[in-house]
Amino acid sequence: MTHTNQTKILVVFYSMTGNVATLAKAVAQGAEGAGAAVRLRQVQDLLPEEVIRKRPDIQKVKNDLKEIPIAGNDDLVWADGVAFGSPTRYGNMTSQMKQFLDRTGALWMQGSLVGKAACVFTSTSTQHGGQESTLLSMMVPLFHLGFIVQGLPYAEQAQMGMEQIHGGSPYGVSSVSGAQADRAPTEVDLELARALGRRLAITAQKLRTEPAGAAAA
Ligand SMILES: Cc1cc2nc3c(=O)[nH]c(=O)nc-3n(C[C@H](O)[C@H](O)[C@H](O)COP(=O)(O)O)c2cc1C
Repeated sequence: MTHTNQTKILVVFYSMTGNVATLAKAVAQGAEGAGAAVRLRQVQDLLPEEVIRKRPDIQKVKNDLKEIPIAGNDDLVWADGVAFGSPTRYGNMTSQMKQFLDRTGALWMQGSLVGKAACVFTSTSTQHGGQESTLLSMMVPLFHLGFIVQGLPYAEQAQMGMEQIHGGSPYGVSSVSGAQADRAPTEVDLELARALGRRLAITAQKLRTEPAGAAAA
C-alpha cells in the first residue's frame, strides 16, 4: 500500500544472467528502508527464442524473475525517483534497456519526467570491462528526459576498500561477475546498492517536497 505522502521509487532493470537483478533487489531494499514505496520492474526482453532455448542459465533466471512485472511508461510517471540497472554490453547499456528508454518519446515531449531523481547501476564480467563508461553513458538519455541524476559519493566508504574485488564508483553501483557471469554481487556491492537506493529515496523526497517553482527560480 502506498500512503499519499510516501515517496515513490521505481527500480527498473534488465538482467540476462541474474547479477543486475540481485543489485536491483538491493537498491529496492535501500529505498524501502528509507520509507519509500517501491516498484521493482524489468524491461521487455529482446533475446530471440532460439538463443534462450540453448541457454539453461538464462532460462533459470527468466523463471526466477517471472513474478516481476514488465515496466511501462506509466511506472516512470508514477515514480518520484527511478533507478535504472543494465548489464554492460561492450562498455554500454543493453539494447533492452535502450529500447525501454527509446519508448519514452511521449513523456519527453510532455516533460513528464523533468525534475525527478535518477541513478544507475550495472554489472560487467571483468574488472575493467567498462562499468564507468556504461554508467556514464546510461546517464546521457536521463539528462535529455530532465532527470536529476544522483551518484554515489565517497561518503559511502565501502567503495574505497582494497581487500576484495568489488564494484561501486561515484557514478553508481556495479558488480564484477567473472567470465561465466556466475560471481554474484559481493556484500560490499550489495551494501553500496542499498546505500544508492536509500540516497535516491531521500533525494526524490526532497525534490518532491520542494515548493512549486523553486527549482526554476
Ligand atoms: C554481448 C555481450 C557484451 C558484453 N560486454 C561486456 C563488456 O564490455 N565488458 C564486460 O566486462 N563484460 C561484458 N559482458 C558481460 C556482462 O556484462 C556480464 O556478464 C554481466 O555481469 C551480466 O549481467 P546479468 O547477470 O545481470 O545479465 C558482455 C556480455 C555480452 C553477452
